[in-house]
Amino acid sequence: MSTELAEKIRRLIRQQGPLGIAEYMALCLGDPEHGYYITRDPLGAAGDFTTAPEISQMFGEILGAWLAYAWQRGGAPRPVRLVELGPGRGTLTADILRVFRRVPGLSDAVSVHMVETSPVLRARQKEALARFDVAVAWHDGLADIPDDRPLLLVANEFFDALPIRQYVRQGDIWQERAVGLGPDGALAFGLGSGRLDNGPAAPDGTILELCPAGDAVMAEIAGRIRRHGGGALVVDYGHERSAPGETLQAMRGHAFADPLAEPGEADLTAHVDFGALRRRAEAEGAQTHGPLTQGRFLLDLGLLQRAGQLGAGKDAAAQEAIRAAVERLAGPDQMGNLFKVLALTAPGIAAALPPFAPARPEEQGSTT
Ligand SMILES: C[S@@+](CC[C@H](N)C(=O)[O-])C[C@H]1O[C@@H](n2cnc3c(N)ncnc32)[C@H](O)[C@@H]1O
Repeated sequence: MSTELAEKIRRLIRQQGPLGIAEYMALCLGDPEHGYYITRDPLGAAGDFTTAPEISQMFGEILGAWLAYAWQRGGAPRPVRLVELGPGRGTLTADILRVFRRVPGLSDAVSVHMVETSPVLRARQKEALARFDVAVAWHDGLADIPDDRPLLLVANEFFDALPIRQYVRQGDIWQERAVGLGPDGALAFGLGSGRLDNGPAAPDGTILELCPAGDAVMAEIAGRIRRHGGGALVVDYGHERSAPGETLQAMRGHAFADPLAEPGEADLTAHVDFGALRRRAEAEGAQTHGPLTQGRFLLDLGLLQRAGQLGAGKDAAAQEAIRAAVERLAGPDQMGNLFKVLALTAPGIAAALPPFAPARPEEQGSTT
C-alpha cells in the first residue's frame, strides 16, 4: 500500500536523487505533515510497541532514585532542571517526580523540561504531569533549554529514533547507503554519492552505521553536565562496543516490518552504539558510568525488593502482573540484556555511583 509520504519521498528522489538513510528516517519519523511520531501516539497494546515505563512504575521509580542520589552526591544543587528527551506519554517523568517528592529539598528545586517534537505526545505528557505542582516547559530540542544550571536528564528509547547514516564497504572505500527507486518505481535500497573517510578496513559488503545526530545530542548533554553538574541516564537497546553491522529496523503492530514498505506508518529505529556515546561524553569532559545491562542496573538497585513491596497484600492476579513486569524488564531473554544503561555525572563527583563499579583509570577515555 502506498502512503502519502511514500509519494512525497518518490517525488523527492526523482528531483534530487537517492536519499541518505538519515534523510529517509528523518522524513518517516518527523515529516511535519505525515511523520510517524507527528501523527500518532504509537505506544501501548493498541499501538506498535511498548516501552519500559509503560510496563511498570518500578522502572521510573528506580531511575528516579538514581537521579536523586546523583543529585545528593553532587552537593544537592538548586535550582535544577529535570529534562526528559523523547518522553512518550510522560509516564517516566511522572514516576520520577513521585520519587523526588520523597527527597528533602529536591521537588521544590526542580523545573521540568520535556524535549518532544510530537504534538500528539505533548498533549499526553501534559495530562500525565497535570497533577504535579511543578513548572513544565516543552522544547523542540535540548539546545532550546537555557544552559545555566545543573541537569538531571533521562532518555529512554530516544537515541534509537535519531537518524543514522549507513555506509557499505566496497573495495577500499565506504560508500553511503541510500534509498532510491527500483525498476518498478518502488522504494529500494541502493548507493548514494556520500563516502566515509578514515573508516576501518572490513570485508566487502559490510555495513557500518553512524549516528551524527546522537553524537551531537550526547555532546550537548555532556558539556552541560561538565559545566553545571547533575546526572544523566541513557537507556536504550544497543551494543556496548562499536562494531560494524546493520541494525535499521521497522516495527508495526508489535512485529517487525519492511522499513521501505509504508513510510510514516511504522516506527523506524536503529540499535544505539553505546561505545560511541560514551567516547563522546568523555571527550566533552563528563564522567561516564557503565554501560550496564538494564537487567543488572534494575536488579542491583532493588527491583525485586520493590516488586515485593508493591505485591504485598495484593491478590494473585496483581502479584502475577508484577512478576511478569519484572521478567519483562530484567529477564535476560527479554529487555534485560538487550537494553543498556549509560550514566553521566560531572567529573570528580564520585568514584562510584551504585550500581556502577568504580571507573578504572584505564577505562576513562578508552576506545572500546
Ligand atoms: C520510542 S518513544 C519513547 C517514549 C518514552 N521515552 C518511553 O520510554 O515510553 C520515542 C520518543 O521520542 C520522541 N522523538 C522522536 N524523535 C525525536 C526528536 N528528534 N526530537 C525530540 N523527540 C523525538 C517521540 O515523539 C517519542 O516521544
